[in-house]
Amino acid sequence: MSIAFPVVASRPSEIEVRAVLLSAEVAKDPAAAALGAGDQASVSSVLAGAGFEGKPGEAVLLASPDGVPVVALGVGTLEELDGQAARRAGAAFARTAKRFKTAAVDFSTLAGRSELDSLAAAWVEGATLASYRYRAYKAEVATANLETVSLVHSGAEDERAKVEAATKVAQSVAEAVCWARDLVNEPGGSMTPTALAEAAAEMAKREGLEVTVLDAKAIEKEKLGGLMGVNRGSAQEPRFVKISYTPKGEAKGKVALVGKGITFDSGGLSLKTGEGMMTMKCDMGGAAAVFGTMAAISAVAPSVAVTGYTPLTDNMTGGDATRPGDVLTMRGGKTVEVLNTDAEGRLVLADALVMASEDEPDAIVDLATLTGACVVALGTGIAGLMGRNDSWLSQVEAASKRTGERVWRLPLPADYRASLDTPVADLKNISGGRDAGTLTAGLFLQEFVGEGIPWAHIDIAGTGWAGKDSHEYTTGGTGFGIRLVLDLLANFERPTS
Ligand code: BES
Ligand code: ZN
Ligand code: ZN
Repeated sequence: MSIAFPVVASRPSEIEVRAVLLSAEVAKDPAAAALGAGDQASVSSVLAGAGFEGKPGEAVLLASPDGVPVVALGVGTLEELDGQAARRAGAAFARTAKRFKTAAVDFSTLAGRSELDSLAAAWVEGATLASYRYRAYKAEVATANLETVSLVHSGAEDERAKVEAATKVAQSVAEAVCWARDLVNEPGGSMTPTALAEAAAEMAKREGLEVTVLDAKAIEKEKLGGLMGVNRGSAQEPRFVKISYTPKGEAKGKVALVGKGITFDSGGLSLKTGEGMMTMKCDMGGAAAVFGTMAAISAVAPSVAVTGYTPLTDNMTGGDATRPGDVLTMRGGKTVEVLNTDAEGRLVLADALVMASEDEPDAIVDLATLTGACVVALGTGIAGLMGRNDSWLSQVEAASKRTGERVWRLPLPADYRASLDTPVADLKNISGGRDAGTLTAGLFLQEFVGEGIPWAHIDIAGTGWAGKDSHEYTTGGTGFGIRLVLDLLANFERPTS
């Protein structure tokens, strides 16, 4: 159940807990805090004793004389206080106050900040995201959960209206992320390609978006050879889902989103280890990110046309599975020698990138849990960013900075392309060596992006899955990329060449 965030002028009397945002300056010198009279007495004297430093993400629950416990939330120094700090404060609050139902957070300490509405929005986003739990298969646990968090802002009425508008959008976005996390967390045995396509189509219809679902027959007719090749070892039918959003008014351009949708990756005949496939229900995280983006796109209302292309299948070992050495003919006619069936993501993405390119978008972004090498290089907190057209990649980096979903740019060295050469076909699906696995995967994908189309590839192998709760992320599927892509679309500029 989602939390309600009414924006109010003064603190409601009937609340169980309240939050105060405190900067590092205040934490250092509580006596000098510009807090309300009640807070001065109740909070400042105990902060030092609690070892509170005011760092973003820090939260301490304190008793207070008026009987309503206070959560002191660190936001860093006032100069550093940005969306990321506010988001972490919201997340820390949701964790610290989860046994209460009704709460209030006072934004008065931030009064006068011009970007107060976006700070409040980030706080709401953090609180909503950190409250998420995957509960589908757990016996109902009788714990209380935050139901209403009043956002107290005593300033002018129009200020409150701005906060209300911004927090509403943030909540829609965060709820779309939580929905996408549910898709990822549902086991591969039940979140089959058919089930995932149905969930996506249902969402699209609810959101008034245009949707087409290709079944096995249609996929064959469209010559999606990569998708068919990966699906060959599966008892489950593949799907290809296309969802489109058309803005009201004039469109600034057209963006294609592509997401890897492997509902379970066993590795195929190049079988993974038991350990290696434990979290492989997350291998549709790219597709989930595309669906989550589309789920919130009407709330964000960017002025670009957007189409999502998502190939869906699992990667299994059935009796007629693709064998190492088999050659696939991809959409558009290029041939690929499959030497490792565990490098399947690039095969399904190739078809999708060709499909996307045929529609002549102004730019493409793909998201994929593509390579273990990316996890080795950047860990679980930073996604790999590759592609072509500097102006487009810079827009992705800017969106990454604004949303706190971190990316790091990696190269696509032209001379490395030779490692994908094979005497048998146009290219092979692995380079053979262990080096630069993330880059060679990117170079493989590049072969299927239409000439001259600006393209960003985001490898979310590390960031798509969280092994533990951390800030706004919760254990399991993360929904990584949704907030970044929505921000990217909202700030879209036609890439210069
Ligand atoms: N789905 C995996 C990549 C992955 C690994 C995602 C760990 C999330 C966490 C992908 O299909 C894969 O298996 N890639 C291989 C490619 C190799 C065979 C060239 C890999 O990274 O080992
Ligand atoms: Zn694989
Ligand atoms: Zn995979």
